[in-house]
Amino acid sequence: METNRKWKVAVIGCGMFANGQYLPNIGKEANAECVAVCDIVPERAQKACEKFGVPQWYASVEEMIEKCDFDIAIDAASIQAHHEINMAVLTAGKHLISQKPAAPTVEMLTEQIELAKAKNVKFVCVPIHPMRRDINAAKQMIKDGAIGEPTYIKCNMEHGGPEYFQYRDVDPTWFFEDGAGALVDMGVHGLQIVTTLFGPVKSIACLATVTDASRTVRSGAFNGLKIKSDKIPDEYMITMTFRNGKIGFVDTGFSQKATRTPQLEVYGTEGTLSFTKPYMENKLPELYIDCPERGLRGWITPDSWEVVPERLISQCCCLKDIIRAIEGDHDPVLTPEHARHILEIMCKIPEAIDSGSTVEIETTF
Ligand SMILES: NC(=O)c1ccc[n+]([C@@H]2O[C@H](COP(=O)([O-])OP(=O)(O)OC[C@H]3O[C@@H](n4cnc5c(N)ncnc54)[C@H](O)[C@@H]3O)[C@@H](O)[C@H]2O)c1
Repeated sequence: METNRKWKVAVIGCGMFANGQYLPNIGKEANAECVAVCDIVPERAQKACEKFGVPQWYASVEEMIEKCDFDIAIDAASIQAHHEINMAVLTAGKHLISQKPAAPTVEMLTEQIELAKAKNVKFVCVPIHPMRRDINAAKQMIKDGAIGEPTYIKCNMEHGGPEYFQYRDVDPTWFFEDGAGALVDMGVHGLQIVTTLFGPVKSIACLATVTDASRTVRSGAFNGLKIKSDKIPDEYMITMTFRNGKIGFVDTGFSQKATRTPQLEVYGTEGTLSFTKPYMENKLPELYIDCPERGLRGWITPDSWEVVPERLISQCCCLKDIIRAIEGDHDPVLTPEHARHILEIMCKIPEAIDSGSTVEIETTF
């Protein structure tokens, strides 16, 4: 496959995330250019076009597929629209990066995975945590025995809600409607992180509640708008047993206005790994080592480890992942099978909450 080719990218959904992470970084992250944007709200597509110097805009994915010559689509639309968009893009034989979750059910995501295989195109599912430098360093440290035998993992993946801290000129009400919610918006990150480090999950249990049934938008074009937010829980405490027998805990939701809890800690028989900074800022995790043979115990901040993975510029790094997979004809780092495993966990969480029991997970990656 030619490697100096400039890849043509189309961005679907011109909301907060596309404007903040994808559109400004396409040319910085890869040998690629944005040739078109699409949004069902035409003014948003038009505005993004002008702001980022994109030559074409569309108000429908179908029209864009028909008229525009592109190689890779990034689906950054609202959560509820992903499956239909992804099926249309894959049916057209285009490579695809999908925002999370790529589909509402495991069966639908399997349909997308099989279609991508049949069409011989690459399919990447974000979030991007398996590409992170600190996560890869932690993986290596665990493998090298830095904390002895790893025993359990704890992730705190929270913020105060999309209406609370994220500036957007789009009404955030959809985050609290069926098909969206804190679990699929935030829980997906925590679940991807813990499974990247500890592998597939065997079973889960979960407690959940609505902590705030009525919210008020605090910034942006819809500042002051009241949102009824009592339909879906906004706080989930997910416990899990991994297939390797170890255990984990993901605390996730829209229910922490602020926190000083580390986002992630991994405990082992001889130490701890602690991630204390926001996730794009951690160079390497802090490391606590208990080493009686050398009379040492305490925290260190490693400034390198044997393998120093590359630094990520933005969450558009997923473009680098798909282009490498296309050019080298191999699987991407951000596989849809991993996304499907996380999706199965999220789909079974309501059953775990209602039954108060442990629920088995069947998929793997
Ligand atoms: N860190 C992260 O990974 C992160 C953070 C925020 C959002 N996200 C994800 O990014 C996606 C978008 O979120 P956002 O915060 O930008 O939301 P947003 O509401 O700001 O933007 C979504 C945009 O999609 C458009 N849209 C909806 N249906 C469409 C369709 N069928 N075709 C074309 N456009 C359509 C909407 O008009 C809107 O402009 C979601 O999947 C969300 O979960 C990820």
